[in-house]
Amino acid sequence: MSIHIAAEKGQIAKTVLFPGDPLRAKFIAENFLEDVTQYTTIRNMFGFTGKYKGVPVSVQGSGMGIPSAMIYAEELFTDYDVDTIIRIGTAGGMKEEVKVRDIVLGQGATTDSSVLKNIFRDQVSFAALADFDVLYHAYRIGQEHNLGPIHVGNILSSDRFYNEELDNAKLADYGILAVEMEAAGIYAVAAKHHKRALAMCTISDHLITGEVTSAQEREQTFTNMMKIALETACHLADK
Ligand code: HPA
Repeated sequence: MSIHIAAEKGQIAKTVLFPGDPLRAKFIAENFLEDVTQYTTIRNMFGFTGKYKGVPVSVQGSGMGIPSAMIYAEELFTDYDVDTIIRIGTAGGMKEEVKVRDIVLGQGATTDSSVLKNIFRDQVSFAALADFDVLYHAYRIGQEHNLGPIHVGNILSSDRFYNEELDNAKLADYGILAVEMEAAGIYAVAAKHHKRALAMCTISDHLITGEVTSAQEREQTFTNMMKIALETACHLADK
């Protein structure tokens, strides 16, 4: 039983969908899963396990930012034998060809967080990467079900939502597609424990063009992303 999740062993599935918002976790459990049980309410950071097309899948709130997400990722991997974490979140678009409502799969996650520096003590700048197998199948499933546009590439996991100092234009010029706040930490924890992770995000706003989405539009693209995540979980369970 872990400190922040405190579920019983066996209550959490091998694949966990990982939204930042615990109410989003509740919404997913209620609308996409069957035979649902709630395994944690600690700090209102809800976690549920249910079935999608007969396959056990869990959905756990991560909270906002790398430190919060790393706590839950660490406990999921080490205390509950979770194999794969799929972050499902929102991100701000950085490159012009990445439009609001598009989906971005974080092949790599660049970060301004000191977390990776602290782990490697300035010896190297660790390249935090998604698991290729999970990334490949998520992309393939999204294309096959026409759930796109889907972009794959480098994203920024920023420590600050409000960051006036960041050179967004330069980052975009170096190929950063979008900014969110958790992926690099989740990828690092997965690497540490020889597990798998992928961060996928829908673009909710755009830092360069200023475009924003309505709540209704966000709901639709969110549903497409959910389908990709759930079908990917099914695919991983079949193997
Ligand atoms: N910055 C960081 N995270 C985000 C943003 C953003 O602009 N939009 C959605 N998630």
